[in-house]
Amino acid sequence: MKIAIVGSGYVGLVSGACLAQLGHEVVCTDSDTSKIRTLEAGGLPIYEPGLDTLIAQARREGRLTFCSNPADAVAMGEAIFICVGTPPLPNGDADLSAIDHVARLIATEAKSPKLVIEKSTVPARTGQELKRALAVYGRKTGVVFRVASNPEFLREGTAVGDFLHPDRIVVGVEDETAEKQLRDIYRPLLERTFSCPIHAPACPEGPAATWLVTTISSAELIKHASNSFLALKISYANMVADLAERLGADIGEVTRAMGLDPRIGPSFLSAGLGFGGFCLPKDLQAFVHLAERSGVDFTMLKEAEKINRRRIERFVEKIRDALWVIREKRVGVLGLAFKPDTDDVRFAPAIDLVATLVREGARVRAYDPEAMEKARPLLPEVEYAQSAYEAARDAEALLIATEWGQFRQLDWDQVRETMARPLILDGRNLLSPKEMKARGFEYRSFGRPD
Ligand code: UDX
Repeated sequence: MKIAIVGSGYVGLVSGACLAQLGHEVVCTDSDTSKIRTLEAGGLPIYEPGLDTLIAQARREGRLTFCSNPADAVAMGEAIFICVGTPPLPNGDADLSAIDHVARLIATEAKSPKLVIEKSTVPARTGQELKRALAVYGRKTGVVFRVASNPEFLREGTAVGDFLHPDRIVVGVEDETAEKQLRDIYRPLLERTFSCPIHAPACPEGPAATWLVTTISSAELIKHASNSFLALKISYANMVADLAERLGADIGEVTRAMGLDPRIGPSFLSAGLGFGGFCLPKDLQAFVHLAERSGVDFTMLKEAEKINRRRIERFVEKIRDALWVIREKRVGVLGLAFKPDTDDVRFAPAIDLVATLVREGARVRAYDPEAMEKARPLLPEVEYAQSAYEAARDAEALLIATEWGQFRQLDWDQVRETMARPLILDGRNLLSPKEMKARGFEYRSFGRPD
């Protein structure tokens, strides 16, 4: 099928490259022409494991192109995926102006019937507004538009594997034609007839994805409800961690046992600095607003948000407790991305943490394997190290803010030798308290006996 992707950010690029891998002819476009120029020159505006190889291969085989004129992309696509950003407005609502803009573009440029698919995360009922907008903006053209919602569940860092091996594909549609078109798009994936470019464990052999056909509003709600539930789970684990700390229990032991109950499940129970990134916090906020506007008292969501905001404060209290005075202290920070395996620093707890420390007068030297370039403009006062060892050198405390796997493998004896004081505050419970103490560190983390 000929597919146009409008919006070449994380979701658009991963979806475009993966749909090309399934055998479709895909064109990706974006209103930011510099992004398209970078892509055309073989560069990638984001870091996402496996995506560069996938894009290069699809381009070589002529299945993926980039185009700086969105009107051309719209003209070409039989199906158009809307993957533009829906950032939070100051009041927490999702800003849907980019979606409205794309609707106008599609309605005025389309000369043949189009299936318009929302992939960006949007509040329930956006599909109805989109349908109305297409009808209004395109009233003189007579072109038929079908609208569908096909939410993405991609995690940054594993997005390619998540797309090609999803556990569910949700399609919110209004008629059988739209469902059939979407099924045709995903058929190679459902029948596993495409060649998978990445190997295990990223692409596990397992049950094929569940195909779920819903109303458009349900599909929209599924996305917000899923992300908000994950946020609730994390905040719950963080509160249990605080309690474990007071009671002398170990949060790792507690959540491990909880997770063995299939009704609870083991993931998203890691306590620490809390959740960040461009999805969970903004989706939670938008969901709160949607509930409020719909007259539903969903206070527990607000509580999850509040708990998450307090994680940084809790960590800074731990730092203050250990260092006594923060001003003028040299502090090393490991990790700036909102989670490992990404260079994304949007709403990253690590960034908030460092900004707070800088405000308190700490001298921060930070290291992140991928995210330093994106962190630099946000944190210009910080010194950036070439390695984790350099970040630790002469530091009176070393903080772990993102749980990159490579930090676990550091030569910790070497780290201890170069630090001014062998103090580690582990904001992600990455290391073993017992082992770190055996190596001669003062070690503090969340919800585990110090
Ligand atoms: C999320 C959803 O998981 C994905 O389905 C959706 O499509 C987009 O939003 P992502 O933003 O990539 O994906 O991050 P995710 O892996 O969900 O992690 C979000 C945040 O929660 C990170 O800051 C992470 O460090 C934190 N987290 C996660 C915890 O603090 N504890 C956990 O147990 C799990």
